[in-house]
Amino acid sequence: MNEILTLTRQILEDGSLIRLVLGNKRKKSVPYGKVVIRPFAGRDGVLYQAEYVYENKVLHENLDPEELLEQIAFLMENSFKQANFFTADADYQVLAAKPENPRIIRKDPTMERQGLSHNQIKKYVIPDGEPVDFLVRLGVMNESGKVHAKYYGKFRQINRFLEITRDVLDALPEARTIRIIDFGCGKAYLTFGLYYYLKKQLGRDVQIIGLDLKEDVIRFCSNVAEDLGYEGLQFQIGDIAEYQGTEADMVVTLHACDTATDYALLNAKKWGASVILSVPCCQHELFRQLKNPLHEPMLRQGILKDRFCAILTDTFRQLKLEEWGYDVSMIEFTSLEHTAKNIMIRAVRTGKPKEKAPEQIRELKEYWHVDPTIVREDI
Ligand SMILES: C[S@@+](CC[C@H](N)C(=O)[O-])C[C@H]1O[C@@H](n2cnc3c(N)ncnc32)[C@H](O)[C@@H]1O
Repeated sequence: MNEILTLTRQILEDGSLIRLVLGNKRKKSVPYGKVVIRPFAGRDGVLYQAEYVYENKVLHENLDPEELLEQIAFLMENSFKQANFFTADADYQVLAAKPENPRIIRKDPTMERQGLSHNQIKKYVIPDGEPVDFLVRLGVMNESGKVHAKYYGKFRQINRFLEITRDVLDALPEARTIRIIDFGCGKAYLTFGLYYYLKKQLGRDVQIIGLDLKEDVIRFCSNVAEDLGYEGLQFQIGDIAEYQGTEADMVVTLHACDTATDYALLNAKKWGASVILSVPCCQHELFRQLKNPLHEPMLRQGILKDRFCAILTDTFRQLKLEEWGYDVSMIEFTSLEHTAKNIMIRAVRTGKPKEKAPEQIRELKEYWHVDPTIVREDI
């Protein structure tokens, strides 16, 4: 099986796959006669459509590269004895009566790619296959630029974040240094990504601070920034709620737990930051407060109450931002299959407060009997 997966991984990483057909059932009980896999350009990079061909119907499933690898391993182990890869460079016939000992026959290519160009496949801000110093240093890719399979999700997340940043560039200062703070930066994959994109790729003048409670993490990130010569990228130990440092034009806070997000947003408001990118998580605060007898059936189920609290908390954040004069969009950060913490609050300052927001906040507070940090601390 390893040989089959190595071949598949290599083809996926080359971006050369045109079509893959799995067939020749291993046993009668396999419900589909064959599975045909084709790449297509998804929003965050290339995805694969798997078409399961049954006797009387066809079902489709979209998979990312990692999921595809897993699915191929499963199907070759359990369902099919043969795989035919059609790639831009060669055709490969894999005969795997025994999956652990397959025969792989390479022939000249017989198919040409149509529709999906190589550029569409490699539409990442940071492409796969080209070495990038910070990604090598953080263990995401090897020295030749190959992203390690285990880090593909992280690699995609960094790229998605940079695409979102690209969309808000116009709101950031053009004629002076862009000041950015990443609250709760953790190991700082995204902070480094931001620096690399703005400074190294776009040549913008940036001053970026990554703040986190964890001393060891900050020490590690500071060493990496220094080793890479990333001037203008600093890491500091500190609590978001008590941060008294320099102002920022862009406030980033990704997966800072519970009310830490609120303090990040309150800082952004205080400074009149032009852009805020925030992915909240662990919105537990309202769980202890929420009361409304009308909704007792939902609230008695912990999991429903928990999910609803997250939505309600983020709704208060949205309204507050609107009250402060931000245009707010809730967007999908990464695919929901990878994490439930996938909603990003993207706020761009317009300076035009939404008049209805304060009243809506009051009504929601009263209706749900809650007093969220973002409202209480906004004084
Ligand atoms: C889940 S990690 C996310 C790291 C990074 N932002 C990312 O998305 O990859 C959350 C980080 O926020 C930090 N954090 C949580 N509360 C904080 C606070 N009040 N002040 C500073 N950092 C905080 C934690 O130490 C942790 O490193």
